[in-house]
Amino acid sequence: MPISTVPVQGPIGVFDSGYGGLTILGKFRELLPQYDYLYLGDNARTPYGTRSFEVVYEFTLQAVRRLFELGCPLVIIACNTASAKALRSIQQNDLPYLDPSRRVLGVIRPTAECIGSITKTRHVGLLATAGTVKSGSYPLEIRKLFPDIQVTGMACPLWVPLVENNEADSEGADYFVYKYISRLLAEDSAIDTLILGCTHYPLLINKIRQFTPPHIRLVSQGEYVSRSLRDYLSRHPEMDGRCLKNGRCEFLTTESVEKFRECASVFMKQDVDVRSITLG
Ligand code: DGL
Repeated sequence: MPISTVPVQGPIGVFDSGYGGLTILGKFRELLPQYDYLYLGDNARTPYGTRSFEVVYEFTLQAVRRLFELGCPLVIIACNTASAKALRSIQQNDLPYLDPSRRVLGVIRPTAECIGSITKTRHVGLLATAGTVKSGSYPLEIRKLFPDIQVTGMACPLWVPLVENNEADSEGADYFVYKYISRLLAEDSAIDTLILGCTHYPLLINKIRQFTPPHIRLVSQGEYVSRSLRDYLSRHPEMDGRCLKNGRCEFLTTESVEKFRECASVFMKQDVDVRSITLG
């Protein structure tokens, strides 16, 4: 059923499967503090990284609908897995009937856009969830823009749980961080740029740097995605006018409020105003 055809003013919706999108939201708030944001974490059903296309699409569509119902004119899917598996279908098939005046954007395209000016060898590595790697979305987007770049992906299934369990700085994390990076570099030793293609990986960046040869550049996507959002809003003044600018930020979770507050503190060093909702 359509949401509304009347242009609404509201916060920018930021959706993630869980807490990881808070790393992206943090960068939005640093670069664009004047906007209002409504963050939705589907914490009760995370992780998405191991789920099928159909399930990730269904869950993501439910989240986008809810953020639209709550008045967001623009929704950023801050989750790489959801961007990889659901964004295109939502943009092409669902948005036209939900409300064609609203927009849903993801994190893969803005990351792909910055890669061309970073890599010299034109060999790029992707570290991401199994779902994102398997989707082929990063190589596809990068090849569209820079056909000469070769992308090799490596799924890092244990990195999300390490971060979520607050083990990112532990000695135990060393083994798994080293394991996936060394495997990837063994597959393509010409790689000079590594994309951290998952919302959680900025929290592992010290360890990732420790096990990455110094000549390799790490691309942590938050800053590129936030710059891309700023450019998008300046190129689309009608959308910019529909985004509220009171510097407010609210949080929704499909888990309990207590759990969200506790776990979000790993990703953000502040107390949050959070409400619990159900999706589906
Ligand atoms: N947010 C997801 C991503 O960026 C990681 C967590 C998950 O698997 O749901 O791919």
